[in-house]
Amino acid sequence: MITGKFPSLRLRRSRKNDWSRRLIEENNLTPSDFILPIFLIEGTNKKQSINSMPGVYRWSIDKLSFVVDKAIKKRLPMIALFPYTNPKKKDSTGTEALNENNLVCKAIRFIKKRYKNEIGIMCDVALDPYTSHGHDGLLNKNYVLNDETIEILIKQSLLQAEMGCDVLAPSDMMDGRIKKIRQSLDKNGFINTQILSYAVKYASSFYGPFRDAVGSKNLLKGNKKNYQMDFRNSDEAIREVALDIKEGADMVMVKPGLPYLDIIKLIKDNYKIPVLAYQVSGEYSLLSNSIKKGLIDKHVVLETLISFKRAGANAIISYYADRLEEFLK
Ligand code: PBG
Repeated sequence: MITGKFPSLRLRRSRKNDWSRRLIEENNLTPSDFILPIFLIEGTNKKQSINSMPGVYRWSIDKLSFVVDKAIKKRLPMIALFPYTNPKKKDSTGTEALNENNLVCKAIRFIKKRYKNEIGIMCDVALDPYTSHGHDGLLNKNYVLNDETIEILIKQSLLQAEMGCDVLAPSDMMDGRIKKIRQSLDKNGFINTQILSYAVKYASSFYGPFRDAVGSKNLLKGNKKNYQMDFRNSDEAIREVALDIKEGADMVMVKPGLPYLDIIKLIKDNYKIPVLAYQVSGEYSLLSNSIKKGLIDKHVVLETLISFKRAGANAIISYYADRLEEFLK
């Protein structure tokens, strides 16, 4: 027999019906929360599947409008371009990064000409898709040189800005590059080109499928631990973000996503700046393969994406960005 002493406060009361659950929801997803990564490949009429990333493709530039039309129709605010560079064009200094007819440059020109400002374009600033050793910068005895690498990254940034890139995203983790890139952008008149810093980027095994997608996986010598962050650390994440804000970053990113929700929250609690989460390739492949095998229900995708918002992310880079409705149902 329930007595009057029994708690009259019942949290399940507001969970009872769908309308009530919707009424009190604290977080939700909209298309404006998403950035869609797109992989590029040379040639024509190509939609090439990627073994390690089921449902993700490499596109030749002549077929890009198919993907970009879709992104705009779904009201995604931005796409991110990543090239699969012909191995013959790779060398130890990543020369191809500075070729104004490389895949990324061609794609930016094509998209800007056709779509103007209907959608934002984000491009990585780093050398790994272009180097024969798969590292993000110049290599000297297995160590990635900081200041020498920055000199090339400045040129890569200027070139991409000149082509029409809206948001430059240095993903290289060199010290001091945000300041140098901001200064040279301003000096050359690109005062409105934004910088999204991959400020907190961990040396992670979750990047494997991406490296396969851009063709650097089998080339990569060693690991990236002498420049990307140690995943045992979080105080250091605060220092990285503090520096990048001071140097002029407009937005900062935490990467990978799901294993680093604590870091997203830590950064959001400490800084009033847009924080983006990158649900990286390994997270995507884990989820997608498990769903494909029927091991877990596809709704896990929505659950993980909401967790980024709950942690405080303003937006999410996700390979699911153009297929959200499959998971929202
Ligand atoms: C390049 C870069 C990487 C990713 C984005 N930009 C890989 C790396 O640093 O090795 C990973 C994205 C993903 O795994 O989805 N510096």
